[in-house]
Amino acid sequence: MEIIAAANYEEMSQMAATFLMHKVCNARKVTLGLATGGTPLGTYRRLVKYHQVEGISFQGVQTFNLDEYVGLGKMHPGSYHSYMETHLFRWIDIDPCQTHLPNGEAVDLKLECARYEELIRSRGGIDIQVLGIGSNGHIGFNEPGTPFDTRTHVVALADSTRRANARYFSGETDVPYQAITMGIGTILDSRQILLLASGIGKAAAIRHLIEGNKDRQFPASALLDHPDVTVIVDQSASN
Ligand code: GLP
Repeated sequence: MEIIAAANYEEMSQMAATFLMHKVCNARKVTLGLATGGTPLGTYRRLVKYHQVEGISFQGVQTFNLDEYVGLGKMHPGSYHSYMETHLFRWIDIDPCQTHLPNGEAVDLKLECARYEELIRSRGGIDIQVLGIGSNGHIGFNEPGTPFDTRTHVVALADSTRRANARYFSGETDVPYQAITMGIGTILDSRQILLLASGIGKAAAIRHLIEGNKDRQFPASALLDHPDVTVIVDQSASN
């Protein structure tokens, strides 16, 4: 696991965008695994700039997002479909047929998980998976206690996660109770992983990740087994 220290959020975002652009520019086709939340926003802003200012094309890129809330339609402002449209997809020249997220409105959620898992596999797997980290160590929506070999599945969100994500809704009561998430096993299948962490609220989780041992109660520790993980942390997250 390579740990890269950035001075602040802006530098972390620039480093992450450069890291991803390097892949996008050097391969005819690339599959990115994408995350949501506040952490990757600055990275996405920079990817948009690479397209709009430097003319870099995303036509050879396909994407798979980590997760989606159960019960939220694509147009719901709190959905991750809507987040991705607002912050990245609508500003770049990516083919809309090449952007994938789980369907949180599927009638049969189990079937949807299997479909998503198979789609990732049949499209050649993920080249680089971008990850944030929850303060409880969750990756995607894999909460503490999740076995490390899980595939895409439905999860009940921890209270702390619902509270942390309430800022994207009109209040905590509006935050869904369930989500579909890639499993830890799905994430570990990615050829490369880029984990980003910013702010004092992530410092304990980053310390735990760097110093810790593999522990089911701390989902991010599953990454210790992966051969190609880069972690970019800003100063406040590395204290
Ligand atoms: C959510 C997402 C995760 C993300 C985490 C941290 O729970 N499902 O993928 O990593 O939040 O979010 P933030 O970057 O806003 O701290």
